[in-house]
Amino acid sequence: MEPIISVDHVSMRFNLAKEKHESLKEYFVALLHGGIRFDEFYALNDVSLDIMPGDFYGLIGLNGSGKSTLLKTIAGVYKPSSGKVTVRGTIAPLIELGAGFDMDLTARENIYLNGTVLGYTPKYIASRFDEIVDFSELKDFLDVPLKNFSSGMVARLAFAVATITKPDILIADEILSVGDFLFQQKCEKRMAELMSGGTTVILVSHSIEQIERMCNKVAWLDHGNLRRQGETLDVTREYRHFEKKDAMPAKKGG
Ligand SMILES: Nc1ncnc2c1ncn2[C@@H]1O[C@H](COP(=O)(O)OP(=O)(O)OP(=O)(O)O)[C@@H](O)[C@H]1O
Ligand SMILES: [Mg+2]
Repeated sequence: MEPIISVDHVSMRFNLAKEKHESLKEYFVALLHGGIRFDEFYALNDVSLDIMPGDFYGLIGLNGSGKSTLLKTIAGVYKPSSGKVTVRGTIAPLIELGAGFDMDLTARENIYLNGTVLGYTPKYIASRFDEIVDFSELKDFLDVPLKNFSSGMVARLAFAVATITKPDILIADEILSVGDFLFQQKCEKRMAELMSGGTTVILVSHSIEQIERMCNKVAWLDHGNLRRQGETLDVTREYRHFEKKDAMPAKKGG
């Protein structure tokens, strides 16, 4: 079987400006004079992994380890500095809260906007509109601008729109963590339904319990490096051990 996603020796380099400039004007003056130095920083460093159709793939690692960057290269938001990503299917990306939404528009308008971004026709969205509203439980807030929504409410709406069709691949980056436990349960249930219909899911979560409950495969990123990948429990066992060790106070006189 062919992988649905192949990440092949992918590196992602960001340039970080080294000097601090007091104003944008100073910054451009320095830029004109060639006076800005950049530090190269690798958010991903030669990462390779294959995700097979039907995998429920977990991504774990500390803050800043490169999880969201990896998802963005998979979703095509970033082009890797080197290496190659191959995706064989449609993606519903839930990566950044509020991406694909316009905060000044109402929830009703945003359902159409976001649905269009995901490639649905207005007619199709209209036919599924009630279902989206039911799932998100935001019936009373349909005509409220999104800027007045809580982050959990935005996440509900995003999840409801993205999962209304069966994408080949669903990417969920911590989007569930802002929902309350009832909504998390509902999302887990819907993800399981999508899975049984053949959707491949990639889930980022800081809850190792959630990863162990949902995923069959896990990759662990550490400072942009793939530290370990494989069967869920093999990876999470080691990660838990690492967390414990890292959280331990330094030994005296050692
Ligand atoms: N557009 C960017 N420009 C510069 N640096 C970036 C950019 N995007 C991400 N980074 C850096 O890349 C590193 C990895 O970030 P990333 O968001 O992928 O981490 P993460 O594993 O998703 O962390 P978290 O658990 O906090 O969500 C961080 O050091 C971050 O500052
Ligand atoms: Mg992230």
